Amino acid sequence: MDGKFYDNDISQIVELDRAHIWHHLTQHKPFETGEPRIIVEGKGMRVWDQKGKEHIDAVSGGVWTVNVGYGRESIANAVRDQLIKLNYFAGSAGSIPGAIFSDMLLEKMPGLSRVYYCNSGSEANEKGFKMVRQIAHKRYGGKKHKILYRDRDYHGTTIACLSAGGQDERNAQYGPYTPGFVRVPHCLEYRAQWDMTGEEYGKRAADAIEDVILAEGADTIGALCLEPVTAGGGVITPPAGYWERVQEICKKYDILLHIDEVVCGVGRTGTWFGYQHYGIKPDMVTMAKGVASGYAAIACLVTTEEVFSMFKDDASDPMNYFRDISTFGGCTAGPAAAIENMRIIEDEGLLDNTMAMGAYMVENLNALAEKHAAIGDVRGKGLFCGAELVADRQTKEPAAEKMVQAVVADCMQQGVVIGATNRSLPGFNNTLCFSPALIATKDDINEITEAVDQALGRVFG
Ligand SMILES: Cc1ncc(COP(=O)(O)O)c(C=O)c1O
Repeated sequence: MDGKFYDNDISQIVELDRAHIWHHLTQHKPFETGEPRIIVEGKGMRVWDQKGKEHIDAVSGGVWTVNVGYGRESIANAVRDQLIKLNYFAGSAGSIPGAIFSDMLLEKMPGLSRVYYCNSGSEANEKGFKMVRQIAHKRYGGKKHKILYRDRDYHGTTIACLSAGGQDERNAQYGPYTPGFVRVPHCLEYRAQWDMTGEEYGKRAADAIEDVILAEGADTIGALCLEPVTAGGGVITPPAGYWERVQEICKKYDILLHIDEVVCGVGRTGTWFGYQHYGIKPDMVTMAKGVASGYAAIACLVTTEEVFSMFKDDASDPMNYFRDISTFGGCTAGPAAAIENMRIIEDEGLLDNTMAMGAYMVENLNALAEKHAAIGDVRGKGLFCGAELVADRQTKEPAAEKMVQAVVADCMQQGVVIGATNRSLPGFNNTLCFSPALIATKDDINEITEAVDQALGRVFG
């Protein structure tokens, strides 16, 4: 220590933050005159900032994470107890919470049987990509290595994940990208790319994936990586008929299906996993944010036994295992927190609550759409909802980003934290995002949508 005394005086904290912290996804110029926001405390659905102002959090910590809400002492206690017993050992050995959580998790994921621990969604996705490439080398002379990803989807922040990123503003200026990733069209019917509707549209959007496979050559494609419901690309719920066809296509061309459940996983959409709404049988599933609701960093890559066995079937070959390392995948706080997080979801019936409150939120948003022409489309699955704002309902011209941000800022002023698609798609950063904790009540939902009602009135008139 250099003799400085940190007394937790909040004005000192604000100054230290302003002087030293580089915030994620943030332009810092405004902090030269204004203050960065410091979140000091959270309880249930609510957080308090440096001025003591209370906010209801409609985005679960900003990025769909704090699914069981703030201030859960039982998770804190489970983590504390585990840290005292054993905080860490590298993943070449097992741990007690790691083994227990894997069993609890796999019980919710019939057809899948192996869990690889790491500590961020990006890392989990990268590991999936590495597995696909290693399988290609083992079985197909390296040829069947390409990975298909979808326009508007996001899979993480690393260069390989951005190479699989369908959000051009996220990607811009970070190239050159990793070769071997190929884009397929999105499936958002509101921004239709084909002149049809409903199930026919869903099938057509999936067939567009087959078109890409045939153009590239099916013998070059190892996997298809998709979000079950696209998150940061505009809360895109898939049209009817889409997923059934996607599954058929993967089977037909022997392509592994990698489902990115980093946002949807562990309850967000009202089922344990988003893919479970659609009867999909994935080969790999990645998850992170809600696994421990942000009480500890944990991510998982879960695979079928078939995928796993390809990495052990020739023990005489020194290269025939997954030669991957995750230092912090060995932190035991992650699975300790995840066990308690899952217990809370079960004991408090939070999946049922998510279904019911999600439907209620969509109802409220649809009611707002009756009143405000700026709402062009309302989408949602469980407590994962979006409202796409437009300048003109007929032409569907997207609302200007400044107006969308003004709605977010107005809500913040009212003490309601909502989100919006941000540096995602050029010209389409126009979807308001809502993902309150799975404990939300009708009163909470009303408070959120009433704030949006007022904000839309002020911003769009
Ligand atoms: C769908 C999806 N996948 C992956 C990620 C990356 O996760 P992380 O930020 O933990 O690396 C995110 C992050 O927002 C995401 O939304």
